[in-house]
Amino acid sequence: MSKHIIPHSYQISNEDRMASNKHNSLLIWFTGLSGSGKSTIANVVEQKLFKKGIKTYTLDGDNIRKGINNDLTFSPEDRTENIRRIAEVSNLMLDAGLVVLAAFVSPYKKDRENIRTIVKDVNFVEVYINTSVDECERRDVKGLYKKARAGEIKNMTGISSPYEAPVNPDIEIKTEIETVEDSVKRIVDFITPKLLRQ
Ligand code: ADX
Repeated sequence: MSKHIIPHSYQISNEDRMASNKHNSLLIWFTGLSGSGKSTIANVVEQKLFKKGIKTYTLDGDNIRKGINNDLTFSPEDRTENIRRIAEVSNLMLDAGLVVLAAFVSPYKKDRENIRTIVKDVNFVEVYINTSVDECERRDVKGLYKKARAGEIKNMTGISSPYEAPVNPDIEIKTEIETVEDSVKRIVDFITPKLLRQ
């Protein structure tokens, strides 16, 4: 498909944009079960970064699955396509010089590895929000687990569809034993040196 696409050489580079922003671009990818706390934690991390003058943007199910990906279901193939498109959108945002926070279940290891390939390893931080199915089901913020148990939702991650936990994430947050505040501090401390420009 891309055989006859010849890139135009634009004069404002990613380097120019990062220099203007005074920080590097970075993709902070939050993976974990539905209701694990990904969006909650991403939201607080973004506020901390924003207050420091860092140019941020958050991608999550609300702005992606209701828009660009509203044609996709929760079948394994569609989840793969969901993550691929999000990785490509993130890649454009990285090129634009932003710090992108992406909060998606992203249950498949191969899909998460593909993100690394798309955005290049150096730009990618994987944060595993590790909350057990039992706890997510107990919280059931959106009522989806109840519906899944009643058979009203098929392919529910953790119930009737697998979640392949990261083996070696950059950061692992165990929300059942760590506060949001402590988790956020660990993430911000980890990424801050990566944002600094030489
Ligand atoms: S992913 O698996 O393709 O990465 P994504 O993060 O975009 O999933 O969307 C997950 C969100 O959609 C959940 O937080 C939940 O609110 C909702 N949802 C609806 N149906 C399902 C389902 N079958 N499995 C998981 N999440 C679902």
